[in-house]
Amino acid sequence: MSTGFFIAIEGGEGAGKSTHSKRLAAHLESRGYEVLVTREPGGTPTAEKIRGILLDPEITDLPDRAEALLFAASRADHAANKIRPALARGAVVICDRYIDSSVAYQGAARGLGVDYVRQLSEWATEQLLPDFTIYLDVPTETGGERMEGTDRMEIQSRDFHGRVHQAFRDIAAASQRPHVVIDATAPKEDVAALVATTIDAVIPPR
Ligand code: TYD
Repeated sequence: MSTGFFIAIEGGEGAGKSTHSKRLAAHLESRGYEVLVTREPGGTPTAEKIRGILLDPEITDLPDRAEALLFAASRADHAANKIRPALARGAVVICDRYIDSSVAYQGAARGLGVDYVRQLSEWATEQLLPDFTIYLDVPTETGGERMEGTDRMEIQSRDFHGRVHQAFRDIAAASQRPHVVIDATAPKEDVAALVATTIDAVIPPR
C-alpha cells in the first residue's frame, strides 16, 4: 500500500515543467512534506542511460516503435526502482513528464495509437498511475521560443510539436482522473501560485 502522493506535470516543450516542479517541491517542503522531484525519460541510473539514446540527435534511424518501447522501458525502471519506493515511504513524488507524454508524443504525434501506447506504459509500470496530473498548456509557438536544446525530440518538425500540443489538450479533456489544465503563458509567479493552491486542495494532510 502506498501512502505517498504522486503528481505528474505534463505539457509540450517550453511549458516550464521543470521550473514548476521545483517551485512546487519547495512549497510542499515548507509545509513539512518529504518531496522527491524526478523526471522522464530518466530518473534512475539505468533510465538515464536510456534517455541518452532517446535524446541523441545523431541517432536518425530509430524506428517509432523502438522509441516507444525505450520510453516505456525507462519508465518501467523508474517506476519500480524510484517512484514506488518513495511513495511507499510516504513521500510526495513530483514527476516532470510521465505516461501522458508517451501517449501525446508516441501515441498521437508519431501515430502509434493512443490506446495502445497507454496500455504499454500501464503494463510497464504495473498500473502505477499519478494521483493528480497538472497539464501546463502553452501554444506551440510560445513553447518553441522557449525551447533551449537541440535534442532528438526537440528537432522534430513544428507540425509534430503542434500535434503534441493538441494531443495534450485532448488527453486532458478526456481524462477521468484528477487533473487540472493551467495556462502556462501567464506570468511565472501566477502559474506557480495556481499550481501550489491546486495541490494544497487535493493533497492529503500530513
Ligand atoms: P526533456 O529535455 O526532458 O524535455 P522537456 O524539457 O521538454 O521536458 O526531453 C524529453 C523529451 O522526450 C521531450 O521532447 C519529450 C519527449 N518524451 C516523449 O516523446 N515521450 C515520453 O514518454 C517522454 C517522457 C518524453
